[in-house]
Amino acid sequence: MKLLEIKNLRKSFDDLEVLKDISMDVNEGQVVSILGPSGSGKSTLLRSALDPELTAEILKVLKKLAEEKMTMVIVTHEIAFARSISDHVVFMDGGVIVEQCKPADVIDKPSNVRTKAFLKKLEQ
Ligand SMILES: Nc1ncnc2c1ncn2[C@@H]1O[C@H](COP(=O)(O)OP(=O)(O)O)[C@@H](O)[C@H]1O
Ligand SMILES: [Mg+2]
Repeated sequence: MKLLEIKNLRKSFDDLEVLKDISMDVNEGQVVSILGPSGSGKSTLLRSALDPELTAEILKVLKKLAEEKMTMVIVTHEIAFARSISDHVVFMDGGVIVEQCKPADVIDKPSNVRTKAFLKKLEQ
């Protein structure tokens, strides 16, 4: 069964065309890896392509894996989700780790000004 269908997807940021006519399918049970150099559009593809329903499905699966004590390293902008399932949170900016500790500490009481600014931006 086709779980995800992307057809002729395009995305630009102002003058920068980041996704140019992307088409791909993901079928149930498939593991798909998206590879490519930094800046090639991987993150943009996942943010445009994933509708809220599919995002929720994926978060549910990750939560289950976390409950089964699967060791995972997750890169995400889903802050509330990261807070709820993580034992440890690492916040990076500009090539350095600016803060790392228990999720409640970083997310509810960020001590670093860059962490604060980032969390505020995501809230909007
Ligand atoms: N919110 C944004 N505003 C402007 N440009 C962006 C934004 N997000 C990504 N880009 C640009 O889009 C291109 C693809 O970025 P991205 O999807 O993050 O690539 P990847 O995840 O493969 O490194 C890069 O040139 C990046 O600078
Ligand atoms: Mg990326």
